[in-house]
Amino acid sequence: MLEKLKSAALNAQKNAYAPYSKFRVGAALEANDGNVYFGCNVENAAYPLGQCAEATAIGTMIAQGASAIKQIIIASPTETFCYPCGGCRQKIAEFAEASTPVVMITPEGNSTETTVGELLPEGFTLTPQD
Ligand code: THU
Repeated sequence: MLEKLKSAALNAQKNAYAPYSKFRVGAALEANDGNVYFGCNVENAAYPLGQCAEATAIGTMIAQGASAIKQIIIASPTETFCYPCGGCRQKIAEFAEASTPVVMITPEGNSTETTVGELLPEGFTLTPQD
């Protein structure tokens, strides 16, 4: 599964729309339905409207009817690992457990792994209302 996630993230990264930062990011996640969902960053001329790769992958997962992240992988364009930004940590946490693995990979094949709980300790939560 990790290999499948890696290739999905690297493929999505190729499609990143990042003409302003030139920082192309890919993300892929394994969902609770057993499927892999992926995304890339999508920037905008109005800079704050840009969307991170993780958010694209999560939005696709939700649109397809899955509801939980089993693991997520983020592909950096450089040899520096691309840890999720603060906002994406909150977005990932919405659909994951504290123990959910978060894996970062680089173009040279280096990788490192952590968890949602390590990245976002004491994160904000609300009890969903039906
Ligand atoms: N970016 C992501 O897609 N994911 C992250 O976790 C960090 C940053 C994107 C946003 C923007 O398009 C570009 O990388 C530079 O910040």
